[in-house]
Amino acid sequence: MSNLCGIFGCIIREGEAVKLITDGLKRLEYRGYDSTGVAVIDNNQMDIRKDKGRIEEVVRNLRILEMSGKIGLGHTRWATHGAPALENAHPHTDGSESIALIHNGVIENYMELKDELIEKGHVFKSRTDTEVIPHLIEEEMKSDIGIQGSMLRVLRRLRGSYALVVLSTHEPDKMYVARNESPLVLGVSDNGTFCASDVPALLPYTNQVVYLRNGEMAVLDIDGYRLIKISDGSEIERPTTEITWSPEMAEKQGYKHYMLKEIFEQPTSLRDGLRLQENYLNLLTQFLDRGKEVFLVAAGTSFHSCLAGSYLFSKLARLTTFPVVSSEFMERYGSTVGIDSIVLTVSQSGETYDTLKAIDHARMRASTVLGITNTVGSTLTRVSRAYLIQQSGPEIGVAATKTFTSQVLVLAQMALRLAKNRGKLSQDELDELDDKLHYVPDWVEESLKNNDERIQKLAHDHMDKKFFVFLGRGISSATALEGRLKQLEITYVPSLAYPAGESKHGPISIIEEGVTCIFVCPRGETHSHIIGSIMEMKSRGARIISICEEGDDDIKRLSDEVVEMPRGIPEELSPIIYITPLQLFAYHLAILKGLDPDKPRNLAKSVTVP
Ligand code: G6P
Repeated sequence: MSNLCGIFGCIIREGEAVKLITDGLKRLEYRGYDSTGVAVIDNNQMDIRKDKGRIEEVVRNLRILEMSGKIGLGHTRWATHGAPALENAHPHTDGSESIALIHNGVIENYMELKDELIEKGHVFKSRTDTEVIPHLIEEEMKSDIGIQGSMLRVLRRLRGSYALVVLSTHEPDKMYVARNESPLVLGVSDNGTFCASDVPALLPYTNQVVYLRNGEMAVLDIDGYRLIKISDGSEIERPTTEITWSPEMAEKQGYKHYMLKEIFEQPTSLRDGLRLQENYLNLLTQFLDRGKEVFLVAAGTSFHSCLAGSYLFSKLARLTTFPVVSSEFMERYGSTVGIDSIVLTVSQSGETYDTLKAIDHARMRASTVLGITNTVGSTLTRVSRAYLIQQSGPEIGVAATKTFTSQVLVLAQMALRLAKNRGKLSQDELDELDDKLHYVPDWVEESLKNNDERIQKLAHDHMDKKFFVFLGRGISSATALEGRLKQLEITYVPSLAYPAGESKHGPISIIEEGVTCIFVCPRGETHSHIIGSIMEMKSRGARIISICEEGDDDIKRLSDEVVEMPRGIPEELSPIIYITPLQLFAYHLAILKGLDPDKPRNLAKSVTVP
């Protein structure tokens, strides 16, 4: 599962639980959906109904609204492990079917737990990581420690992320919930107690909520909740807080626009992006290693990810790749692509027309097509030989933001894995990069937190500028191109983006007093060259904004304004962090101009036409 499944549970005095559950799930639909499931208990009988498909469909087909009971839970799934299918839909149960469990997140060590359970005779029905949890609870319950004691033991064994809700006929008036890294919020009202993955689902019933924190579980009953620390079983006191958001604001988690919400969601989506499935990561890199040549095919933002990816593959794994925009693939490589070629396609939606056309052609010529996408079940996942899910969850803002950072993170992990398999980096270098890869979400978080206000002011100072130039060298030329694309998409201000070294072959002719040049300058091999490029522009009167490392005095001295990034980011990983101020800059500029960044003119989220 990814961290964007929808979860809703309730224990109520008046009404039917399923009515609230289905309403709650609909309010979480923006989190993604490919299957739906509900469980209620009535007269100590558990009734579970689930199937793949959208909420309305499943509710209608399985006559979910006819289910009776005052306690229940529901789940909408956004698949990342196991295809959208009935058996993979939640809730999952234990062997005796007395425990129903829904989960949002990824259990990293589920394979070893599953093997252990199979040895003990447990039989599994799905291909999900989730199903091990009810079976583990069932196993622990054999030692007569009740659900709470069993859950504590199980939770201490799980590695990865989860928000989970457990319903059981053993204690038919209680619900157990727990959280690590995936969101879960509780709600209380006169009518009962609720839990959901997100506030919008609770708002029709209550504005009194409690956010569960990492490492906590809670026991819910009709009168409220009890919070427990998972590590030592101690009780925690936390009163409710009042939510003052309107339902619409709540859907955006209090952010004004989806784009801003998605920008700030990046630390979370990146943490999820570090939990790729090992076997697929290995499989894809093995294919890359075997190809005679590797094409990286994508459109829009996904193409910029490929561009960054091409530097990563060459620098880390010594693999030459050919990044190409999907619409040019056939003209450029259509007659050379063949049985020995690998075509790695990257597409958030998995449905972009030009990208699918390129794949059709490559498959016709017997090439191996691999995919990176955000959408399980998309055409790309059906036609590629193997694929990886970028794990960023549904993106609603038309201007892709978390897509870029997640895709580059996936490509970086592929490049690193390939480097390891090929023996192209020393163990020390590998360890160091791997370490740094795990810092990336924190760096992004720090950069967003420290720079938002500063960038808002920068945008204000530059809001009347008629023209911008974005420059970077090496892998940062991909960052510059992507930063410029954000700005084009939502502010409509003309701009140029170039590899900085190439700027003297043309773009420099337009530089005159006051033209704003934005430089992307991480520390690393390109640093001294970018200084030269800044000087070229500065001496012609350009106003320089630099994105550079904190304390980089060489760059600061030459720049009119700087946005500082955390120290220690390796140049190879810099696009993932250095793009974030540019995303914010575009966003704030659009707002200052009175434009709606979520609905840019002439653009669509998914371009499924020629
Ligand atoms: C459209 C969207 C872009 C996106 C591009 C490729 O142009 O507006 O945000 O980057 O399509 O989409 P894909 O789904 O293939 O990544």
